[in-house]
Amino acid sequence: MRIDIISVQPNLLASPFQHSILKRAVDKGLLEVNVHDLRSYGIGKHKQVDDYQYGGGAGMVMMLEPVVSCIEDLQKDRQYDEVIYMTPDGKTLDQSLANQLSLKENLLILCGHYKGIDERIRQHFITMEISVGDYVLSGGELAAAIVVDAIGRLIPGVLGDETSALTDSFQDNLLAPPVYTRPAEYRGWKVPDILLSGNFPKIEEWRYEQALKRTEDRRPDLLEDG
Ligand code: ADE
Repeated sequence: MRIDIISVQPNLLASPFQHSILKRAVDKGLLEVNVHDLRSYGIGKHKQVDDYQYGGGAGMVMMLEPVVSCIEDLQKDRQYDEVIYMTPDGKTLDQSLANQLSLKENLLILCGHYKGIDERIRQHFITMEISVGDYVLSGGELAAAIVVDAIGRLIPGVLGDETSALTDSFQDNLLAPPVYTRPAEYRGWKVPDILLSGNFPKIEEWRYEQALKRTEDRRPDLLEDG
C-alpha cells in the first residue's frame, strides 16, 4: 500500500513511521508513506497557503490553489482509491473503517490546519472525511498518523503472527481479554490457573468470557451495535 500525505507541517510526520510495527511494514516493502510539503505549492514569494475567510471571522483558511495543485500533481502519477481529509467533523475512525482502508492500494491524506480548508476542495476532491474523535487537534497531522498506524498494522504480512490483529480489541465488537506474562506469581498476585493449564480449548473459552465481561463492564454500547 502507498499512502501520500499532504501537510503544512511535514516535520510532525517525520518519525511516526520509523519505529516498531510500521517501520517493519515499510522495511518489508508492504507500506510506503510519502509526506508532501504543501508550502512548496504555496503562492508567490512567501509561498502563501492560507488566507482570511470571506465574510469575516477569526482564523485563516487553507487556500484552494496550493491544495489543488498538489493533489493534481500527485494524481498524475497514480489513481487514488480515496482522497481523505482529516477533520473533526468527519466520520469517526473505528476498527471497521481501518479494516476497510487496509485493503486499499493508494490513499491520499490531506491534513487540515487553521480554520480548515476552502469548502470547494471538499466538494470537488475529497472522497472521505475522517475524524479521530470528538476533540479538536491543532492540525490533521497527528490524526493522519493515527489513521496510518491503525491501517498499516492490518496490511496482510505486516504482523508476524497473522492471527494477532484478529484478536485485537474491537475486532468482533469485543474488547480484548486480559493478558499476562512471567512471572506466574509476583508479590502474591497470581496469573489465573487456567492460563497455565495447557488446556487450549478451555483457555479460548476463558478468553472469550473475559472479553465479553470486559466489554459489558466498559463498553456495553459495542454489544448493542453488534
Ligand atoms: N484535525 C483537528 N482535529 C481533528 C480530529 N479530531 N480528527 C481528525 N482531524 C482533526
